[in-house]
Amino acid sequence: MDIKKAEFVISSALLSQCPKDTKAEYAFIGRSNVGKSSLINMLCNNKKLAKTSATPGKTLLINHFIINNEWYLVDLPGYGFAKRSKTELAKLDHMIRTYILQRQQLANLFVLVDSRLEPQKIDLEFIDWLGNSSIPFAIVFTKADKQTKLKTNENIKRYLLKLSETWEELPPYFVTSAETREGRDDVLGYIEQINKELKNA
Ligand code: GTP
Ligand code: MG
Repeated sequence: MDIKKAEFVISSALLSQCPKDTKAEYAFIGRSNVGKSSLINMLCNNKKLAKTSATPGKTLLINHFIINNEWYLVDLPGYGFAKRSKTELAKLDHMIRTYILQRQQLANLFVLVDSRLEPQKIDLEFIDWLGNSSIPFAIVFTKADKQTKLKTNENIKRYLLKLSETWEELPPYFVTSAETREGRDDVLGYIEQINKELKNA
């Protein structure tokens, strides 16, 4: 699938501020700094579309980007960023979870995890919550350029093994790099496939 046009639409603090139309949307979640905004930019071939930063906690609102006038990519704030007050963290957590549970247009959620790390409790708990809430999601292992392919494969294997302790069926997963653009075709192909299924439903 080719992205011909990608445009910023709106930043929302509340679900009620999100676009009112019924186009399918694909959102990106994960710990602060894991590379959500960078992945959106990589998919869209536009480094300036979503704001990124080397410091965690850059994205603090729900950001909608319209793709080819047909569907949305949604950049969400990260979770688990400790350098904020408890009140602020609780507010962000509420924003993210309300969006995920109540946004009917959400066709698929991409949960990003750093491909270099061993399974983190905060991500596993979040994934459990998604599963228990019946939210359709896929896992994206980010920053694959930062280590050898061998190491990435080892880490993914370990991650899937960990998930299989809890889940009978494992989610689809992708390996990406915003630097080398690895995984771009796979992620876009996956979105295209869901878009097609929704059209035929
Ligand atoms: P928050 O909005 O704070 O939750 O973070 P985020 O998940 O949107 O992360 P962001 O895209 O802002 O990236 C965080 C940092 O990681 C930036 O310095 C990026 O340049 C870097 N980064 C993101 N993806 C990659 C990648 O695939 N490879 C490398 N080498 N660096 C990456
Ligand atoms: Mg961000």
